[in-house]
Amino acid sequence: MRIPDLSDAETALLDEMRVLLSDAILAHEGSLPFDRYMELALYAPGLGYYLNGRRKFGESGDFITAPEASPLFSRCLAHQVAECLEKCGGAAVLEIGAGSGRMAAEMLAQLELLHGLPQRYLILELSAALQKEQRAVLASLVPHLLSRVEWLKRLPDPGLTGVIVANELLDAMPVHRFRRNVGSWQELSVGLQDHVLVDRWRSLQTPGIAERLQALWPDERIVAEGYTSEINLRLRPWMRAVSETLQRGYLILIDYGYTQHEYYHPERRQGTFICHFRHRAFSDPYFLPGLQDMTANVDFTALASAGLEAGFALAGFTTQAHFLIDNGLDRLMGISDPSDVRRHAEMVQGAKRLTLPSEMGERFKVLALVRGADSELTGFCSRDLRERL
Ligand SMILES: C[S@@+](CC[C@H](N)C(=O)[O-])C[C@H]1O[C@@H](n2cnc3c(N)ncnc32)[C@H](O)[C@@H]1O
Repeated sequence: MRIPDLSDAETALLDEMRVLLSDAILAHEGSLPFDRYMELALYAPGLGYYLNGRRKFGESGDFITAPEASPLFSRCLAHQVAECLEKCGGAAVLEIGAGSGRMAAEMLAQLELLHGLPQRYLILELSAALQKEQRAVLASLVPHLLSRVEWLKRLPDPGLTGVIVANELLDAMPVHRFRRNVGSWQELSVGLQDHVLVDRWRSLQTPGIAERLQALWPDERIVAEGYTSEINLRLRPWMRAVSETLQRGYLILIDYGYTQHEYYHPERRQGTFICHFRHRAFSDPYFLPGLQDMTANVDFTALASAGLEAGFALAGFTTQAHFLIDNGLDRLMGISDPSDVRRHAEMVQGAKRLTLPSEMGERFKVLALVRGADSELTGFCSRDLRERL
């Protein structure tokens, strides 16, 4: 792939990241497990993709998430959150991985219109640079609500009653990559050859991965030679930690992904791992580490079963399109003044982007988990796909 024009700051960042990764590989006897590589490339302090302060979201960044595509997304979500707060008697919302802060701002504005403002809106965000951006966005869009927002460094202590939401958080978790090779499983590590990052496929090393593959393919002989995919071994520990925090209420997770059956379908021979830089998608994880996003789709069956194991009940699973429509997308579009033609066109365009099957409507899913409260939620009333998990 042709190296794009990089600014001096980007080139310096890339050089520093390559040194950091090379050192980590050498310190790991020349072979770094892929999930650790991905973790450093995305989250190394000061240098990792999400922690280095470079612009990521929106047209001038690398990709567009639903809250960036249209405010309608956050407004519909606010309707679901308001219902959840009422049902569980909660006074707090916790957003994990808040990106630019736009979703928080739009949700708070809508919750205010609904007379459903939480006393506290907590944000757990790993990136100090993004925290700063979130504060600025909130200060500009909803300055009068800023005092309700609190940034956290870790999950709150047990005892939270309310709603935890996360959009496109789980796809940014480091994954292990594996493949079928000459009748055996292998997992990917990252090595160095002439100072260049390269794939190093090795027999399974990571504790727990063999058991997970055995559970996915009890008869591994049916897996085609060369079949390659990935698995997120961090989901269960993450879910346990979230479960400890949430005493009563809801967890709403939105992301792109599949049920397990679809995820590990024999025809999906290369898995779902993908990278983004300036709105280009590519598969090479070693191209621009620190400057490129790396992501894998979410296995919603694994996510739901991690939730059940952690003591939640399933409240619903559906497509983003159905979730938004059930939460009043049509009505909310109508709020924009039709005489303001430009704004109206923007709303229509945004709604299409969020709901069309060829855009975000079907590929993105919503999973809701509940503890100690009513599991009937509006967002899943017209099309609940729980039985497909
Ligand atoms: C793909 S972005 C999505 C941002 C935003 N939710 C949106 O939809 O625009 C992932 C976000 O999650 C944050 N993040 C990743 N892992 C995290 C973790 N373990 N805890 C908190 N935030 C995390 C990243 O810094 C980033 O803000």
